[in-house]
Amino acid sequence: MAGRRKVCCGVSALEVTLAVLFLIMTAVCVTLLTLMATWLPNTHTSPGPTGPPSPPPQQDPYLVGLGRADCTGPPAEIPLMGYANPQQTAAGLHTRLFSRAFIIDDGRRRLVFVTADIGMMSQRLRLEVLQALQVKYGNLYRHDNVVLSGTHTHAGPAGYFQYTLFMISSKGYIKASIQPLVDGIVRSIDIAHRNMRPGRIYMNRGNLEDSSLNRSPHSYQNNPEEERRRYKSNTDKQVVVLKFTDLDGDGIGMLSWFAVHAVSMKTTNQMVSSDNMGYASYLLEQDKNRGALPGQGAFVAGFSSSNLGDVSPNTRGPVCVNTGLACDYLNSSCPVGGTKMCEASGPGEDMFDSTRIIGHNIYRKAKELYGKADKEVTGFLHSAHQWVNMTDVTVQINATHTVRTCKPALGHSFAAGTTDGGGDLNFTQGAVVGDPFWDGIRDALVGEPSNQTQECHSPKPILFSTGEMNWPLPWHPEIVDVQIIMIGSVAVVAVPGEMTTMSGRRLREAVKQELESEGTFRDTEVVIAGLSNIYTHYITTYEEYQIQRYEGASTIYGPHTLSAYLQRYSSLARAIAQDRVSQLPVGPPPPFFQDSQLFNLLPAAAADRKSANRSFGDVLQQVQPAYRA
Ligand SMILES: *[C@@H]1O[C@H](CO)[C@@H](O)[C@H](O)[C@H]1NC(C)=O
Ligand SMILES: *[C@@H]1O[C@H](CO)[C@@H](O)[C@H](O)[C@H]1NC(C)=O
Ligand SMILES: *[C@@H]1O[C@H](CO)[C@@H](O)[C@H](O)[C@H]1NC(C)=O
Ligand SMILES: *[C@@H]1O[C@H](CO)[C@@H](O)[C@H](O)[C@H]1NC(C)=O
Ligand SMILES: *[C@@H]1O[C@H](CO)[C@@H](O)[C@H](O)[C@H]1NC(C)=O
Ligand SMILES: *[C@@H]1O[C@H](CO)[C@@H](O)[C@H](O)[C@H]1NC(C)=O
Repeated sequence: MAGRRKVCCGVSALEVTLAVLFLIMTAVCVTLLTLMATWLPNTHTSPGPTGPPSPPPQQDPYLVGLGRADCTGPPAEIPLMGYANPQQTAAGLHTRLFSRAFIIDDGRRRLVFVTADIGMMSQRLRLEVLQALQVKYGNLYRHDNVVLSGTHTHAGPAGYFQYTLFMISSKGYIKASIQPLVDGIVRSIDIAHRNMRPGRIYMNRGNLEDSSLNRSPHSYQNNPEEERRRYKSNTDKQVVVLKFTDLDGDGIGMLSWFAVHAVSMKTTNQMVSSDNMGYASYLLEQDKNRGALPGQGAFVAGFSSSNLGDVSPNTRGPVCVNTGLACDYLNSSCPVGGTKMCEASGPGEDMFDSTRIIGHNIYRKAKELYGKADKEVTGFLHSAHQWVNMTDVTVQINATHTVRTCKPALGHSFAAGTTDGGGDLNFTQGAVVGDPFWDGIRDALVGEPSNQTQECHSPKPILFSTGEMNWPLPWHPEIVDVQIIMIGSVAVVAVPGEMTTMSGRRLREAVKQELESEGTFRDTEVVIAGLSNIYTHYITTYEEYQIQRYEGASTIYGPHTLSAYLQRYSSLARAIAQDRVSQLPVGPPPPFFQDSQLFNLLPAAAADRKSANRSFGDVLQQVQPAYRA
């Protein structure tokens, strides 16, 4: 297989060069901040007296509203978001992109869940969407009751970020790219809002085999054996489905979660595409909206991302594409050609075929579960949201030890990429010592990472100490959204990035335990909505982090990132269970940088050209008078 391979979900090694050039050209001095020895008081509030138990589940139907709107944006010349490949710019359309909104109201509270065919939600996009909702609806749709999630397609337009690292890999903050996303997401909510009517929700779950595999099994194997023994597989196979009906029992929509990367479309693709998850939506919607054009019809089918951090859809697995031999198990490198030659593919003939097969598998399983969903979801709605300074969380892990999160930093193996798309330079996964060559270049240009940050991230060899790089704007966020919404006993945990399989399992278990600890909830179903609200790369377990494959190198707040999230989400769940969400501190709000502070590196769109003897609009090839099916 020819073609350039790039980093999945981050910045490729080429971007390292690009970033370096960018820095030289602008002669920037990056401020190296020394870590402050102080830390903010823990936002954890001591559990109050157990409040009165929540009222018994109501038997009245919910009000539900579903909506879908196009958010495709310009399918030309804009970089595609995901592989961070500067050559991978949009040049056509494979499938259109949609935002799908689900609004639920129990008479006391209202919740909104949006799944959009984009790489990930960004803080900037969320803030712009919430501003637009504020203008239209006042205080109805807010930070605490709206969850925005991305399907993780790697073939949607980039350019909707406000932190420097993402702006560099997107060639800037691109107004032409973000505006259609804001408009599409808001329009999907408008449509759902206008459609609100009494309805019911049913849940079902089942397993989908043969559509995913773990792309960092060596990291997974480092988790404790007794923990691994509790699970049959090294990826989560469950599909969770919510079926929405009107009061007559007629289906009006479906929302589901499944953990797999939407990277069936490869780095060589230049067409805007919603990839496998979007294709599943297309199939179910075409099924239910008989005769309607794609993207039209009342039935809305949302396929949301989950704990897909180490989960690939390329089910034939990695091989050295030049020799056909197996890649090195530990570092995914090939004897000839290194990292670049090790690539996963399948199950189809080519990426279009693979997208079709994986999308069809997900659709078929969800449709089957939808058809048999008969467990009605009842009970009140809840939501809890906080902003957390993720550079500054202290966690008590046992009676004697506390651990801390770090200022953000990316490790060397980040630039190696994954077997779904490897980096261009000679970085390898699993690096626990830095490469003096690249460290030298980095030190000369942007300075060494501070000793505190290096120690905090150990054993990660730091490639970019993004938390100490603030020009022209911070390279990575400090303030992160943590959020849980509950529909009866279904808890949707909105995760600001890509959790690995085991991280997701630990999080679901911790949230379930807190929710059920007060006796308020029983038999809760906890789902992880990945790529929600803001993007902070990956979240591995502490044990996986030690291996420093791509996912560990991209766990930006250090080895205890997951412990910090377990603490924060448990605290939200406890507040819901004890009915004292209103006492939760809101936390420090995120910055909203002025448009004038953001930058755009994208050259102006090239002029359209034609030969002198032609006019725009000429027919190049006449259609046949008739066609046969
Ligand atoms: C986050 O915490 C760090 C470390 O205490 C502090 O330096 C920084 O100012 C905090 N950021 C915000 C936005 O509060
Ligand atoms: C990858 O690991 C193998 C041993 O498992 C080693 O022989 C090889 O040199 C490593 N490759 C790189 C590029 O580090
Ligand atoms: C607490 O955790 C630390 C770090 O994992 C460990 O070294 C220590 O033995 C633990 N202490 C207890 C009392 O479990
Ligand atoms: C990567 O390439 C540079 C320049 O060719 C070389 O100095 C360095 O040793 C290489 N690193 C590895 C790990 O092969
Ligand atoms: C880190 O510590 C070493 C030795 O303690 C010192 O030589 C070096 O200058 C320090 N580096 C930074 C960036 O502070
Ligand atoms: C236009 O000019 C090109 C050569 O410049 C020629 O090949 C082509 O046939 C011409 N087309 C028409 C419609 O005259």
